[in-house]
Amino acid sequence: MNKNIVIAIDGYSSCGKSTLAKALAKKLNFIYIDSGAMYRAVTLYFLRNNIDLENSKLVKEALNNIHIDFQTLNNQTLIMLNGEDVSKEIRQMHIAEKVSTISAIKEVRFEMVRQQQRMGKSGSIVMDGRDIGTVVFPNADLKLFMTADPKIRTERRYNELIGKGEQVNIEEIFENLTKRDFQDTTRKESPLLQAQDAIVLDNSTIDEAQQLEFALEHIRLIDK
Ligand code: DC
Repeated sequence: MNKNIVIAIDGYSSCGKSTLAKALAKKLNFIYIDSGAMYRAVTLYFLRNNIDLENSKLVKEALNNIHIDFQTLNNQTLIMLNGEDVSKEIRQMHIAEKVSTISAIKEVRFEMVRQQQRMGKSGSIVMDGRDIGTVVFPNADLKLFMTADPKIRTERRYNELIGKGEQVNIEEIFENLTKRDFQDTTRKESPLLQAQDAIVLDNSTIDEAQQLEFALEHIRLIDK
C-alpha cells in the first residue's frame, strides 16, 4: 500500500463500531482512533471542573487546558486526559448521560475535529464516530455506516457493562441509547447522518467475524 488509507465508520450508539474498527486496525496494521472516547474525555473534564456550558469563553478556555492522546499498553489502547488514564472512567453511565450534550457544543466539535484530522496524518487509520465520513474525513477511502436493532444494541451494551462489573439496569441503557441517538441525529452541529457514499452495515443478525469479512471485502476494492 503506497498511500495512507482512511476508513471512516459512523453509526448509532452501541452498534459495534469500535469492535469492528479495532478488528480492522489489527488485521490491516492501521492506527485505530475512537473519536467517541475523545468526546467522552472532554465530558469528564467538563464535569470534573464544573464548566459552564453556556459560556463559550469558558468552554474555549477549558478546551485549551485539555490534552488528549492515545497510548498502547499490552495490546490495549488507553485514552489519556492530561496524562491520566481515563479509559475506564469514560465508559461509566454518568459520562454516557452527558456526552451527547457536550459533544453538541460547536467549540468542542471544532477542536476535536481539528485534532482528529491531525491524527489522520500519522498513517493509515480506522476512525469511528458520528461525523467521520461526513465532516472529519469527507474523502475517506471507505465509509461504513453501521446500524442495528435498538433492542439488540441494548442487550449487547448491557452484557458488556455487566462483564466489566458495572451495576446497570437494562431499561436505563435502552433509554440512554435512544436518547443519545435522538440527540446525535438532531443536533445542529454536524449531526449523525449517513454520507451519500457510505455503505450501510446492519449487524443485527451477523456476528463479529461476518462484519469483519464484510468490511474487508470492501477494503479489497479500494483503489490503492
Ligand atoms: O461512540 P461513543 O458512544 O463512545 O460516543 C459517545 C458520544 O460522543 C456520542 O453519543 C456522540 C458523541 N460523538 C460525536 O458527537 N461525534 C463523534 N465523532 C463521536 C462521538
